Amino acid sequence: MRIFASLSLAVLALASFTANAQKSAAPQVAQTPPMGWNSWNYFAEKVTDKDIRDSADQIVANGMKDAGYIYVNIDDTWEAERDATGLLHTNSKFPDMKALADYVHSKGLKIGIYSGPGNKTCGGYAASLGHEEQDAKMYADWGIDYLKYDLCSFIPDVMEKQAPNDKAAQMRIMIAAYDKMAKALKATGRPIVFSLCQYGWDAPWEWAPALGGNLWRSTGDISPDWDRIYAILSQQDGLAKYAGPGHWNDPDMLEVGNGKLTLEENRAHFAMWAMVAAPLLAGNDLPHMTPEVKSILLNRDVIAIDQDKLGKQGTRAYSDGEVEVWTRHLSGGALAVAVLAAGDSRYSTHPFHLDLARLGLHGPQEAKNLWTGKTMTLTEHMPIEITSHDVLLVRIAAPK
Ligand code: GLA
Repeated sequence: MRIFASLSLAVLALASFTANAQKSAAPQVAQTPPMGWNSWNYFAEKVTDKDIRDSADQIVANGMKDAGYIYVNIDDTWEAERDATGLLHTNSKFPDMKALADYVHSKGLKIGIYSGPGNKTCGGYAASLGHEEQDAKMYADWGIDYLKYDLCSFIPDVMEKQAPNDKAAQMRIMIAAYDKMAKALKATGRPIVFSLCQYGWDAPWEWAPALGGNLWRSTGDISPDWDRIYAILSQQDGLAKYAGPGHWNDPDMLEVGNGKLTLEENRAHFAMWAMVAAPLLAGNDLPHMTPEVKSILLNRDVIAIDQDKLGKQGTRAYSDGEVEVWTRHLSGGALAVAVLAAGDSRYSTHPFHLDLARLGLHGPQEAKNLWTGKTMTLTEHMPIEITSHDVLLVRIAAPK
């Protein structure tokens, strides 16, 4: 009898231990930089429910899902007004958000949404101020997996009003607002990626991870323009130590395939975002993507650099004139090297000479060129011809 009683107690204890372990072992999100697609860079305020469904369909059909693009994110302009209970309604472009989320999930994908801590979003739509818990619960009820939370009107409406002329106090108010939504999301019990969009103000890399931010914009908005893309890339240098599994610097969503970016620029943009362990959120018109753009977004070798399990962001090793050499340490001791012709006027009559010693490499290195797929040997001071705005991207499996 006594043995039986203590056995039951042991079983009970084990059951409660397992339950607690399960509770505390909520799946961890963003262990590698989030990959997916976001509506803003191409559709902006015109995005509709149909565009999201079509994009989800494309992601499955064109191989992006298999390559790791999982999040289908609705950006700004889905919102209508709140009713008397404070519940935020969707506008006519998004008649049924729950049904849309179910559709995206039925494709084996995840769905993201957008709001902000102010009264209004950047597009002037209703945001979450004073309704954080209610909105977080609504997202969880819909089955949302990702929230981009954009500062915008919170600056004039709250920060500048509550603490005029006191930048430090304004920043504290901003951090508290992000913390509030982080707690509201956590309270839902649903794993939701939390993306901070506040343009890199007040060094979010220093405080966002502690409040549960999975990524934080490290700069202002991107545009499909080489100078802007390169300016944003330059601002990533120095931020590497803040990135790691679960928390990433976000140099903004991809413009690959948008605007007038050339093949070289699209390739260099994608390569460098992979080098800096950026979230890879495509932002182009998927149903009308050219084969060239598709082959860039689907390059598994480049994606593998971005998604490397070690989660160590790459850094600029050195620059020489208008050419920059970046390196990224990868799991298994491998090394990615990117040689970027950042400037406008580099011609083949002026080859760049790679300085392996400055990368800590000694003697010839066997490498894989990730755009051609071919093996090549890097030698000390070898001349490299790179067209303006293009990149040589290689992976050295066993650096010497
Ligand atoms: C801000 C963000 C963009 C986009 C728009 C939407 O500008 O930085 O990425 O979300 O708002 O209004």
